[in-house]
Amino acid sequence: MARIVTLLIVCCGGIMSALSTSPIPTPVPADSPAIHIVPQPLSVTPGSGSFALGRGTVIAYHTSNAEVRKSVVYLADLLRQSTGLPLPIVDAATMPKRDYIFFNYIRDESLNREGYRLEATKDAVFLEANNDPGLFYAAQTLLQLLPPEVFADTKQPATAWSLPCVTIVDTPRFAWRGAMLDVVRHFFPKEFVKRFIDHLAIHKLNTFHWHLTDDQGWRIEIKKYPQLTQTSAWRADREDVHWNVRTPQAPGELATYGGFYTQDDIREVIRYAADRYITIVPEIEMPSHATAILAAFPEFSCTGGPFTVATGGIWPIKDILCGGNDSVFVFLENVLREVADLFPGPFLHIGGDEADKTEWKRCPKCQARIREEGLANEMELQSLFTRRIEGMLSGFGKRLIGWDEIMEGGLPARTAVMSWRGVAGGQEAARSGHDVVMAPTSHCYFDYYQGDPALEPISIGGFVPLEKAYAFEPAPDSLTMDEAKHILGVQANLWTEYVHQPAHAEYMHFPRLSATAEIGWSAKQHRSWPSFLDRLETQFKRYDARGINAARSIMAVAVSDSFDTSAWKRIVALSSQSGRGEIRYTLDGSTPSAGSPLYRGPFAISKSCVLAAATFMDGKAAGPTTTRRLSVTAVQNVKISLSSPPENTKADSSGRRLIDHRRAAVAGVDTQWTGWKNSDVMMLLDLGRTTPVQRVIVGFYQSPAGLVFSPPSLEVSTSDDGTTFTQVTRVQEASPVKDPRPTVRDYVAELNGVSARFIRLVATSPGAAPAWHRSPSDPTWIYADEIIVE
Ligand code: ACM
Ligand code: ZN
Repeated sequence: MARIVTLLIVCCGGIMSALSTSPIPTPVPADSPAIHIVPQPLSVTPGSGSFALGRGTVIAYHTSNAEVRKSVVYLADLLRQSTGLPLPIVDAATMPKRDYIFFNYIRDESLNREGYRLEATKDAVFLEANNDPGLFYAAQTLLQLLPPEVFADTKQPATAWSLPCVTIVDTPRFAWRGAMLDVVRHFFPKEFVKRFIDHLAIHKLNTFHWHLTDDQGWRIEIKKYPQLTQTSAWRADREDVHWNVRTPQAPGELATYGGFYTQDDIREVIRYAADRYITIVPEIEMPSHATAILAAFPEFSCTGGPFTVATGGIWPIKDILCGGNDSVFVFLENVLREVADLFPGPFLHIGGDEADKTEWKRCPKCQARIREEGLANEMELQSLFTRRIEGMLSGFGKRLIGWDEIMEGGLPARTAVMSWRGVAGGQEAARSGHDVVMAPTSHCYFDYYQGDPALEPISIGGFVPLEKAYAFEPAPDSLTMDEAKHILGVQANLWTEYVHQPAHAEYMHFPRLSATAEIGWSAKQHRSWPSFLDRLETQFKRYDARGINAARSIMAVAVSDSFDTSAWKRIVALSSQSGRGEIRYTLDGSTPSAGSPLYRGPFAISKSCVLAAATFMDGKAAGPTTTRRLSVTAVQNVKISLSSPPENTKADSSGRRLIDHRRAAVAGVDTQWTGWKNSDVMMLLDLGRTTPVQRVIVGFYQSPAGLVFSPPSLEVSTSDDGTTFTQVTRVQEASPVKDPRPTVRDYVAELNGVSARFIRLVATSPGAAPAWHRSPSDPTWIYADEIIVE
């Protein structure tokens, strides 16, 4: 992912499950606890009473079925960790009359390969399926019928380990239920990859797309080409600088950031995933996103280089693998042979996205190939490239899948498409008989923000809140039944340009991946946002028990405010994405508690204050605290004049927006900002009459990627006549300018009651962009909003 793509509106509809289904929610007998399973099963029929796990409980299966043992051991290990119960594994022949969990094969035409039946009675729990994955998913459902603490990896104190009597018949809607992790933009150790695979398993997700190569690194050992891990796996460390303004590796500089997986590591992860019925789809990017290859093998480019492994974002990606050089294909064949030998799954992903054709247009070899093959253009050269790779993969017994750009210039037969630039590409591919995985940016890109950017860790941009992720429909209504059969399923993608740590990767994926899991698994008619929110309350407890760092963004309080000039009051409204729980707040900036005032509806404030608000459930904070300075400028009818007219395109030349009681937002290009390029700025306020002033606050924007920097200083002077000014104070910039986050910085000038009619504010220019910036000599901007006089 290199850029934000226009969001698409996706129509809902699609294929219906062939199975008859019961309506959800199913009536629950009064004595049964709520059954909160994610993803929602096909049918849930509660019974009465419960099955209690105890010291006598055994886990049974026919030991002649060696494959079943995988699920049996998986369940026993998990249950023993949290319950501390012995739970011996026994052969079905020696099973007691009651108090057992029994894994058993059945023959049931209505269940597909991954479907199962679970029946819990007071005496025993029966887990039944046609196939092993079904038994594994039955075990997953059993875990979710128990208290959420069952997901902890240490013995839990004094919990009653019982589950409600119930009959569940369940089968997935789609065969491909995936999640992608980009381990290139930031490297994630093998241990985290395995942990992430565990997280997928509890969601009944069955596909892990491992993005292993890109411009910023190569992460898989290839025995034939040690240069790929000696050189291509490492880049110069610019981790403290915003992704999009990083300078390239300097001559003589060591490349110290990176890492790779040995083939033994890869085999270990593959085995781990296979034990959880998860197929890994490795991605080896070509012909673009290949700068890391070119750093080791510049001869595979059109120009010959030299190149270094990219330290951060590059756009457009012009240096790509040459499409007219046969040695490139020899190299790729050798690489793909090793990759295909390692990974047992049917698919190999070859990327194919974002290949800028600038160099192919100039390259004699590429142009010769176009002529020889009678191709119309460079698009068709990429199509030929993909066809050659498809031929190799076929020879290795693999199917090719690629991003939807591989359709441009003609899609080779047998290939599958991963539709990311919306769903249109996927629809077109399905219509022409190609298999499709839907993963559009609009609903499935979990590198996008999931909440108010002011409250979220910095991300690439975009906005995919949980409700939107949940609303995705992978099989558009416009497809016929036959075409819709080509929709293999759905996948969520996490690109990690802005995600440095495992805990942050979990934060971006969860809870949104729970939504994707339900889209992929549950029958369309059973999807319900309110029901999902109910079940999510329990799912959050499971996340906590497992130590998954899930985002609470849906609980975060959003502040929407406006200024009522006739009443001279600010009107404040609070809400959260989930709408669940209660919002409590303070107006002195202190952390709200369960005893703080309850928000009942929009309220007015007549004095500047600091609002702090949070959602509470069961008497406890259920999400982060939102803190917001809310201003009511004390002086009415302030006039403003500027030393020079603003230069940003949308600014109002009068400077009125600086004192219009509306604060500019951090994200996007807000027209509230008033901006100047490369100069000091003087803003003069006329308060109308001499007035005591406590403080003046001016907000400045900082966004290194946009060459916007907060000023090194803000000088504040006052005057009674507008001619003779006395400097009262000078506010220095608070923290180093290297801070990569786009932020608003409030400069607070304390005037301590000085009486003045005129206030002169001079913001000094940050000058040229700093040396660490990718464009170090470029002019910079100052963006201001809002000026508050208290
Ligand atoms: C992509 O996000 N470039 C597939
Ligand atoms: Zn070329």
